[in-house]
Amino acid sequence: MATTLPPPPPPLETREASSTVRTLLRLWPYVRPVRARLLTAAVIAILASCIGLVIPLVLKWMVDGPIADRDPAGVWLGALYLLLLGLAEALLFGLRRWLVARPLAGVEAGMRAGLYRRLQRLPVAFHDRWPSGQLLSRGTTDLMLVRMFLAFPLTFLLVNGVTILVGVIIMLIQDWALGLVVLIPAVPVVVTCLIFEKRYSRASRLGQDQVGDLTTVVEESVLGIRVIKGFGRHRSQARVFRKLSEDLRGTELRKARLLGAIMSVIVTLPELAIGTTLVLGTMRVADGDLSAGTLVAFLSTALALRWPVDSIGFLLAMSQEAATATERYFEVMDTEEEEPGPHGARTPAASAGDDGLRFHDVTFRYPDAPSGSPPVLDRVDLHIRPGESMALVGATGSGKTTLTALVPRLHEATSGRITLDGTDITALSREELRCRVSVAFEEPTLFSAAVGENVLMGAGAAAGKDELERALGVAQADFVHALPQGTDTQVGEQGLSLSGGQRQRLALARAVVGQPDFLVLDDPLSALDVHTEAAVEAALRRVLADTTALIVAHRPSTVLLADRVALLSGGRITAVGTHHELLRTNAEYAHLMAGDPVGQKEEQR
Ligand SMILES: Nc1ncnc2c1ncn2[C@@H]1O[C@H](COP(=O)(O)OP(=O)(O)O)[C@@H](O)[C@H]1O
Ligand SMILES: [Mg+2]
Repeated sequence: MATTLPPPPPPLETREASSTVRTLLRLWPYVRPVRARLLTAAVIAILASCIGLVIPLVLKWMVDGPIADRDPAGVWLGALYLLLLGLAEALLFGLRRWLVARPLAGVEAGMRAGLYRRLQRLPVAFHDRWPSGQLLSRGTTDLMLVRMFLAFPLTFLLVNGVTILVGVIIMLIQDWALGLVVLIPAVPVVVTCLIFEKRYSRASRLGQDQVGDLTTVVEESVLGIRVIKGFGRHRSQARVFRKLSEDLRGTELRKARLLGAIMSVIVTLPELAIGTTLVLGTMRVADGDLSAGTLVAFLSTALALRWPVDSIGFLLAMSQEAATATERYFEVMDTEEEEPGPHGARTPAASAGDDGLRFHDVTFRYPDAPSGSPPVLDRVDLHIRPGESMALVGATGSGKTTLTALVPRLHEATSGRITLDGTDITALSREELRCRVSVAFEEPTLFSAAVGENVLMGAGAAAGKDELERALGVAQADFVHALPQGTDTQVGEQGLSLSGGQRQRLALARAVVGQPDFLVLDDPLSALDVHTEAAVEAALRRVLADTTALIVAHRPSTVLLADRVALLSGGRITAVGTHHELLRTNAEYAHLMAGDPVGQKEEQR
């Protein structure tokens, strides 16, 4: 079985700023459905901008015509034209906004849904190595940056480009010599933009990664608030937070400095050029070889181009940020999902018949373990017969949790095979596999939902009230009926807090509600008090009677639920037998079980 390694977030220093345009082009599939609207909006914006450029021409007509002739009616007419042009420009820009708002919100929502879907399908190994804050910030800040890019810079880099081109042509037509003077700054401005792009790209990537790290710390502080308070770690946690947020502040300031530098070039040089044309033009008007109207038209065109030119700086900055955001988005989207496995392949084992759960020569090493380190599981062979329950015992860190995680394929065995009734688990679709195998983890996770919903998560859509009641009965989770709204009580992050033992019982109910063929329980009774444990065990005994089960256990009382016990030690199964056999014959097992009154009592018998 090949394990596909998800790429870790590459280290910042080695990352080469890939081409902004190429990165942004990857957004095309998402933008495609709304391309017609975006294009219409761009055309409208270009139209509005060009209407703005007609205003100077009307001014020229007014200065050289009605004003020179002292004709008040003509001046009023000119004013009316100006008013109408201004209105048309405003209306068109408003229309553009209205056109793009809804489709772009849709694009953002679509991309976010895609990210969420991908996160759900990525293997556990991916989530092991990616900090959750990095994923959170990609789904929030980064996608917002992308939407803002589609709303403004994408359109306005085009619109402003066209506006500047048309404006320059108009100026050259008015007076080519003055036009050339205005064009002189173009060269240094373009050079500055190119240098700026590279530096800003690096800074914005750093900034966005730092937002991700900061998100992780905030998230951990909130989730771990009990530990932080309990150990009085406010200060050290606050220090970590302050350090990260100061780093981020530094990066943001660097971005601001870069933006300030480019803005000063982009704004100052054209202003100087306009000042020069003002002086030169006034002299020529005084000399009589340029009409006052032409100079007015020229200067007001130049002034009308100020916004399109000035805005280039921040439009480029926004594009740059959107490009890094896109890059970060696709780092997740490009990671390979777990393949769903063969479809509808209910391949019954040819001759094996009911064969239970079998580990054949299974070796496992965590994908991110240093190479050369010994595998966590080393050529494990284990056979759990149909209907049998097998307890798995081993020291802490011996790999019990890891072994149980291989059955529902949360991790892929590095080599060897695991079979359910003779069928290799890799030959089953994940859906079918996870339907036949039910798990309860050491850490019982509840979601922000009703108690009943949390439990029924473990069953198909058909399961209802009866199944729920049965599962709650098995797990001795009758306490839910005493909750304010019974099984409809909200629990989890945004609901009522339950005790560790209560959570474990719900997790156990979730594992048994689907009446699975195979049950994998990772230390399901560890947080229960002795009396509850005894009650759960009694109920569990009934479930285990006709289920093939693998149960990680620490206490003799739990071990006694199982028909046989396997001892995991040094990555290998070193002994299999009944509890009493192993107590007699295996020193390590006896040691692990020692110190527990039940164990000693059993031994003395
Ligand atoms: N996600 C992981 N990535 C890398 N190593 C891990 C991971 N989870 C557990 N390990 C390592 O694998 C070994 C076995 O862990 P585990 O299966 O949790 O032990 P147990 O459940 O028996 O206490 C430990 O040395 C642990 O450090
Ligand atoms: Mg464990």
